[in-house]
Amino acid sequence: MESGGAFAGLHRQPSCNHLLGPSRTAIKLLPPANFFTDKRRFAPLPSKLQKQSHFASYSSNSSQNNGSALQVASPASTTPELADIDWDNLGFSITPTDYMYIMKCSRDENFSKGELQRFGNIELSPSAGILNYGQGLFEGLKAYKRHDGNILLFRPEENALRMKMGAERICMPSPSVEQFVEAVKATVLANERWIPPPGKGSLYIRPLLMGSGAVLGVAPAPEYTFLIYVSPVGNYFKEGMAPINLVIETEMHRATPGGTGGVKTIGNYAAVLKAQSAAKAKGYSDVLYLDSVNKRYLEEVSSCNVFIVKGNLITTPAIKGTILPGITRKSIIDVAVSQGFQVEERHVCVDELLGADEVFCTGTAVVVSPVGSITHMGKRVTYGSDGVGRVSQQLYSALTSLQMGLSEDKMGWIVELK
Ligand SMILES: Cc1ncc(COP(=O)(O)O)c(C=O)c1O
Repeated sequence: MESGGAFAGLHRQPSCNHLLGPSRTAIKLLPPANFFTDKRRFAPLPSKLQKQSHFASYSSNSSQNNGSALQVASPASTTPELADIDWDNLGFSITPTDYMYIMKCSRDENFSKGELQRFGNIELSPSAGILNYGQGLFEGLKAYKRHDGNILLFRPEENALRMKMGAERICMPSPSVEQFVEAVKATVLANERWIPPPGKGSLYIRPLLMGSGAVLGVAPAPEYTFLIYVSPVGNYFKEGMAPINLVIETEMHRATPGGTGGVKTIGNYAAVLKAQSAAKAKGYSDVLYLDSVNKRYLEEVSSCNVFIVKGNLITTPAIKGTILPGITRKSIIDVAVSQGFQVEERHVCVDELLGADEVFCTGTAVVVSPVGSITHMGKRVTYGSDGVGRVSQQLYSALTSLQMGLSEDKMGWIVELK
């Protein structure tokens, strides 16, 4: 049990109104007077989830919230009514949904029991490990709605394994692969009405693992929280499938050998904000980083991996601790090999960009994103003057057809939820 400090209670918030947008403050907000009596704000949990024992306690946080239980009275129909948002204009921004998943354990324990709670702000001690020492990881994966109503996840166990690897690096306990995948499934099903209709986007799933316990000296936190929230999303880059424009950063680096570049710690992302903001201010889509030792080998973009294409050869920087081992990267390598391409993972010198036919980026959020230009030391190299390159397009189509359930899953990568 936690003591009165870190994560002492999760407070239900008015969450469904996406128009509330970014004005929601980080610290506890008091709900409006009618919030706890407003039964229409949340979809009820599917009856399947209500029966599962490890979700049994989701229904009340009553000591802190006027004694009102969550509204879960009527079982949801198999396919709940879609949320009332503009499905044609989804970007990559947060839309609060109905439920989030929470599971906690102490430093010396394993995670054992989690629960779904209504989506809302959380309470943390000011001395929580994550706030003071950045002891936190995140993951990102997507759920797609197929035309027959089924819901598909793409290789969720890979995200679970990557979280375990990251947790080990920054001294945190982590959920087992099975716990992770089951929690993802439960969270997605509970928020089914927020999954975009086929062809409109996907439900982005954001698992977090954090040191939520209070700590003052530099040390692992005494308590950990695994949390999953979700948000419907469309394209990551405003360009959509149109080619993006990258700039190579020569002064700042996102990772160093022996550091944490190869795991998904939150600090890796704070480290890229300055270069990324400067690049965006100059009209670039994002930053491409070089290795911090030789300053001449490609690493990756702020939130995606990079590939170059030359004829039938596809090359990507090898994973050696400073580059995040992307699940999309790994999948694209397999898809490309299965389509007869030769794929190499090795050091890729920045000069090789000059002779490439195509460059593209991969990631859960960006999927396969063609690169239209790369600027290095003031010199701009352009690709695909007549639009998206043939190879980028071919791999994008192959991957997204699989993820959306439009082609046969010969790789065994898809997890069906219904
Ligand atoms: C730094 C970085 N590299 C690469 C990726 C791509 O990883 P994945 O394909 O698993 O989403 C991500 C995405 O989260 C990332 O943040």
